Amino acid sequence: MIVVTGGSGFIGSHLCSLLAEEGHDVRIIDIAPPPMGVKAEFVRASVLDPLKLQKLFSGADAIVHLAALIDVQASVSDPFSDFQVNAQGTINVLEAARRASVPKVAFASSAAVYGDPEEIPVPESHPASPLSPYGASKLASERYVLLYSRLYGMRNTVLRLFNVYGRGQNPLSPYSGVITKFSEAIAEGKQPIIYGDGEQTRDFVHADDAANAFSLAISSDGCDSPLNIGSGKGTAILDLLEKMCSLAGKTPNPLLQRERKGDIRKSVADISLAKRKIGFYPKIPLEQGLKEIVAEK
Ligand SMILES: NC(=O)c1ccc[n+]([C@@H]2O[C@H](COP(=O)([O-])OP(=O)(O)OC[C@H]3O[C@@H](n4cnc5c(N)ncnc54)[C@H](O)[C@@H]3O)[C@@H](O)[C@H]2O)c1
Repeated sequence: MIVVTGGSGFIGSHLCSLLAEEGHDVRIIDIAPPPMGVKAEFVRASVLDPLKLQKLFSGADAIVHLAALIDVQASVSDPFSDFQVNAQGTINVLEAARRASVPKVAFASSAAVYGDPEEIPVPESHPASPLSPYGASKLASERYVLLYSRLYGMRNTVLRLFNVYGRGQNPLSPYSGVITKFSEAIAEGKQPIIYGDGEQTRDFVHADDAANAFSLAISSDGCDSPLNIGSGKGTAILDLLEKMCSLAGKTPNPLLQRERKGDIRKSVADISLAKRKIGFYPKIPLEQGLKEIVAEK
């Protein structure tokens, strides 16, 4: 059995569907129910309840720990809640896994640990320099996840996710909400908003590829370094809009607004380590993933 904390969320529902297809029994632990159609047992519980976690982890072959507060701006205004759910929640998951004798934890970290990277594509060896409490709590959490491998012989994996996009994404997501926002604006004939000159790049990776990375991680023997999970390609926001407009048969007409404070200029993952260590090769080209989203509208 695989337990997925935060399995009701965006990446979680793609992952639980994949794990069920692969023949695993899946248990979701989340404070909210999963969307319809996800084939998994759902238990309403918080990662802030360590005793309940330990009971729910009993007999599991691996834990995928996705549960988190993901709003970067909210982490600035309320660092306590961010720390509690993201950092303390991760320690609760690790302790419960250790006490329940679960051998593996795969953890969803974030490209936010790099801050504004100086080297593109960014390798895992790049210094971590988070720009938000969210990035700092992810960095602290990933250190604990790898520490538990060393202290207790667990076979844990840390995946640093870049901008995961796909069906079912919340438009408010700080990661790839821009794709959902663009597709809504294009469908409604409104002007999509771009902050800055649109030349800032992001590494968009499809949620099914990210889900596959977790499946590979829990089948592996763990890894003592975090692994970047992205497409390995940078896409400028203006190019993204052009691609989406062309798929929808519309002409791009963005509304350019002032660059937002703290926005990262360039973000592209070097995924060579993830290829080598867990055999991660993203399969869904951006055009194909965007086509699904534009067609949904
Ligand atoms: N989406 C991305 O591009 C991206 C990028 C980098 C990292 N990540 C990380 O991947 C993970 C999943 O992200 P997502 O985009 O699916 O976010 P999401 O918000 O859709 O999913 C998070 C889930 O965690 C649950 N949750 C929150 N607090 C909880 C608690 N106390 N106990 C149990 N469950 C709780 C939520 O109900 C939600 O279902 C997160 O850890 C996030 O930080 C995501």
